[in-house]
Amino acid sequence: MSGAANYIELCAVGDVTQDTPYKANMDGTDLAVFQLDDQYYVTEDLCTHGPGSLCEGYVDGDEVECPFHQGKFNIKTGVATSAPCTDPLTVWTVIVQNGKIFIDPASARKATP
Ligand code: FES
Repeated sequence: MSGAANYIELCAVGDVTQDTPYKANMDGTDLAVFQLDDQYYVTEDLCTHGPGSLCEGYVDGDEVECPFHQGKFNIKTGVATSAPCTDPLTVWTVIVQNGKIFIDPASARKATP
């Protein structure tokens, strides 16, 4: 993995399942690590609508439902897909190597609402 020093290790692949995201932390910010089939995705954990933790939400297909007011986001893109959520989540590019999940902090991006 070239430039590995720039990547941040979040967890092991075994820490995440399809139904149970893993709450990781990067510099004080909680992140949600999701597994969809054999791919992994990372979004911010905090719902953009309020205090809901998306790691405690319900994963349904490519979406996660916030446990607070049942708004939804697309896990792959961070786009808000159901009210009351309108603002997208920040997402990061994921790198999997040697059974561990990393993100490139410089890859943080937000879809246009
Ligand atoms: S806090 Fe997530 S939908 Fe309101």
